[in-house]
Amino acid sequence: MSTRAHNFSAGPAVLPLEVIEELQQALPNYNNIGLGLMEMSHRSKDFDDIIESAKSRLRTLLQIPDDYEVLLLQGGASLQFYMTALNLLGPDDTGAYINTGTWSTKAIKEANRCSIAKSVWAPENDSFTRVPQTDEIGSTEGATYLHYTSNNTIYGTQFQRTPTSDLPLIGDFSSDIASAPIDVAKHGLIYAGAQKNLGPSGVTAVILSPWAIERSITVNGLRKGGLPSMLNYKLMVDKNSMFNTPNTFGIFALDRMLAWLERQGGVSAIYTQNQEKAKRIYDILDGSDFWKPHADTDSRSLMNITWKIHNAELESVFLQEANANDLKGLKGHRSVGGLRASIYNACPLESVDALVSFMKSFEERHG
Ligand SMILES: Cc1ncc(COP(=O)(O)O)c(C=O)c1O
Repeated sequence: MSTRAHNFSAGPAVLPLEVIEELQQALPNYNNIGLGLMEMSHRSKDFDDIIESAKSRLRTLLQIPDDYEVLLLQGGASLQFYMTALNLLGPDDTGAYINTGTWSTKAIKEANRCSIAKSVWAPENDSFTRVPQTDEIGSTEGATYLHYTSNNTIYGTQFQRTPTSDLPLIGDFSSDIASAPIDVAKHGLIYAGAQKNLGPSGVTAVILSPWAIERSITVNGLRKGGLPSMLNYKLMVDKNSMFNTPNTFGIFALDRMLAWLERQGGVSAIYTQNQEKAKRIYDILDGSDFWKPHADTDSRSLMNITWKIHNAELESVFLQEANANDLKGLKGHRSVGGLRASIYNACPLESVDALVSFMKSFEERHG
């Protein structure tokens, strides 16, 4: 194929072509230093400049308070499911969890390996069509924090407001970080795998409040033998995310993604674009009962739009035709079925418009 297809993959996901071209250029000879990006020491001044730039851009774009720390780790959000509980809870402490789908369920499972994870909200059935209102969340008494998944990539639901709690919030922002303003100061800790809005897989951004760092120091003393070095937030802060060799390529890519986001006007500007992109698809889904959107209206995600076709037999035809029209990655997650369009920051409006016009024509032909 000579041109790039419209990419609706849930992650790893589409990156801006200009970012890919910057990466391409840096590979053989980074910044004319005679060494390729992936061939230079993570202890070099050049790499130090890259990681500092990436952290500083993230701080500015997300308006992270000065006394918070930013880590760029490995192991994905899946490791953070365990690492958050391991560092923030003693062995007998409880974390409260809002269970809005597959990823929250996994977070609960991992946290229960080292401490106690209590679900304080789950939907009546397993359909995960919505996130709760604050007054529906059960008692968090005795818990150390309240964990939530900001955007549910698989089900296409999203918290449209930060949940309210007296406890420090722990947020899994893997699939919506930097897509809309976040009130970071309300959070004890935020984590996000990079592979949706921040670049390639293999880097995980972790934003820690002073409270989270203090907890990590305290809990280090409570865990038998102390926290494992690679899973110790305080140690990672002290070592500037370089206790061991970091993902140098991924961190450079993240820096370039953030520079691209700055050129788009930053988080508020991209949020406006994201609202418009999502609206164009939801308008089609709401336009007739040919389509069956999955998420309840007030829980709809701006990042992952999930739906079915009333006549389920048409879904495979939809996917085949979409594929033939260079619209890729639209198959719903296997646990939900149906269709899903992931339209992260880097998914251009043209791709959304191409999908919308394909959907209109599909409905005309098969409706
Ligand atoms: C919301 C959310 N949390 C966690 C994960 C797991 O991320 P990782 O594969 O980086 O461990 C994903 C992956 O898609 C996700 O969407």
